Amino acid sequence: MPSNAPTGTHTDTAPPLTAKLSPWMSELSKQPQLLKQWLETHGSPLHVVNGEEFRRNVHDLLSVFKPRGLTGGLYFARKANKLPWFVKLALEEGIGVDTASLDELRETLALGVAPDKIVVTALGKDRALVDTAVSAGCLLIIDNEDEFALLRESTSAVGKPARVGLRFAGYVVSGRKVFSRFGFPVSNAHEVIAKVLESTWLKLECFHAHLDRYDTVERATAARQLIALVDHCAERNTRVGAIDLGGGILMRYIEDQSQWKTFVTALTDSVQGKRPFFTYRHDGLGYHRAGDTVVGTADLYPVWNGVSKERFLAAILDYEESGSPLFKELSSRGLKLYFEPGRALLDNTGLTLAKVVFRKRDTDGNLLIGVGMNRTNLRPFRAEFCSDPLLISSGGERAALNEGAYIVGCLCGEADVIYKRKLRLPFMPEMGDTVVFVNSAGYLAHHMEIGTHGNPLPRNVLFEPSSQTIKAVFPEQ
Ligand SMILES: Cc1ncc(COP(=O)(O)O)c(C=O)c1O
Repeated sequence: MPSNAPTGTHTDTAPPLTAKLSPWMSELSKQPQLLKQWLETHGSPLHVVNGEEFRRNVHDLLSVFKPRGLTGGLYFARKANKLPWFVKLALEEGIGVDTASLDELRETLALGVAPDKIVVTALGKDRALVDTAVSAGCLLIIDNEDEFALLRESTSAVGKPARVGLRFAGYVVSGRKVFSRFGFPVSNAHEVIAKVLESTWLKLECFHAHLDRYDTVERATAARQLIALVDHCAERNTRVGAIDLGGGILMRYIEDQSQWKTFVTALTDSVQGKRPFFTYRHDGLGYHRAGDTVVGTADLYPVWNGVSKERFLAAILDYEESGSPLFKELSSRGLKLYFEPGRALLDNTGLTLAKVVFRKRDTDGNLLIGVGMNRTNLRPFRAEFCSDPLLISSGGERAALNEGAYIVGCLCGEADVIYKRKLRLPFMPEMGDTVVFVNSAGYLAHHMEIGTHGNPLPRNVLFEPSSQTIKAVFPEQ
């Protein structure tokens, strides 16, 4: 047991953010010996994946199309997880794949996904990527002028035209231009379209938008502006048959709205000095104090939200302008509609397990629980991943813990903190206990993961709940 006197108290731990658990996750968390054995066999951390949940997500997201008379569908944004298993699942479920690099494209083709089910949205496309996509016949989303030159060279070398979509940005929503660095300015759309229509090497098939904020009205409004461009092309005897609204479909990591509200209020109160800090080294997670007020915005994924997954899609499709919902504008023109979800298709599909490897205190007296991993193994895009981990005892008596603790990693850097929140743990962890990070498959596990200190990347296992067994290991042993 660490010996220094604790400086924390009950009252300055972070308010709870109880993780949403799907049944397979709850079942596994009741099997401490199995989890321990997996960690012993495969090392810590270990990413555990359940493909059945991916199938369920495909079904749920697609459920909004048919009742609204819409066709089109989904491309799985491959960038959200590096495992080939999800690409195979996408293939089996009959949806497409969105690829963002040459390696992703090559792998997706090699796994047997048909070229007409692949979209290439990569930024910074190079000749090799464009040549591969053009020869195979995949749809390429063009993002900027320089890509025209690249496509011209590529199509003439490959000897066939390219199937393309045009990505636009800068939609005006309620008098405000939505910021983005992705795509041609929509205000110049007619000029850009004219350039494509004049060319003989580009076949225009789709208009594309990927918006960063999780705002259904922004997406619906952008879609209307893209539909106006479809009409513009129709007047020039060119049929553009599809609209792609990109990714960014919300999902939930916690189920209790009041926990989320309490947490955000407590965070701003602590930044304002109204209550003790509960974050590592007084990190405001996006908020700062200026005089007596709090400025900035929470740099946090909205882990609780009222419009997750299919409800998010439905809210876009049912959004009305001048009395007409968006879906009618699409269906009346026979326009196909696509989304490119990464995160939402990976909801409930993954857990990350890590072994407790040390307990100690920093020089401020904070209790640190070290886990066999580092922060790149669970790296949010934002300042913090706001869902509490599960602590699973590997057996025997555990002492009560009357203070908060920080979960930290094993890198030789002060910043290697897995959570910046001081957590209230159910007991004092012992060496060899397991920490379970819930719902980690979308971006958190893989997007920024690197091998450190000469260690290989962590393993991934494909778990089959019906037989309670591991069906595959990646990388293969
Ligand atoms: C063009 C494009 N499509 C799809 C996605 C996937 O987004 P998400 O995983 O949030 O659904 C992204 C994410 O950055 C993107 O840039």
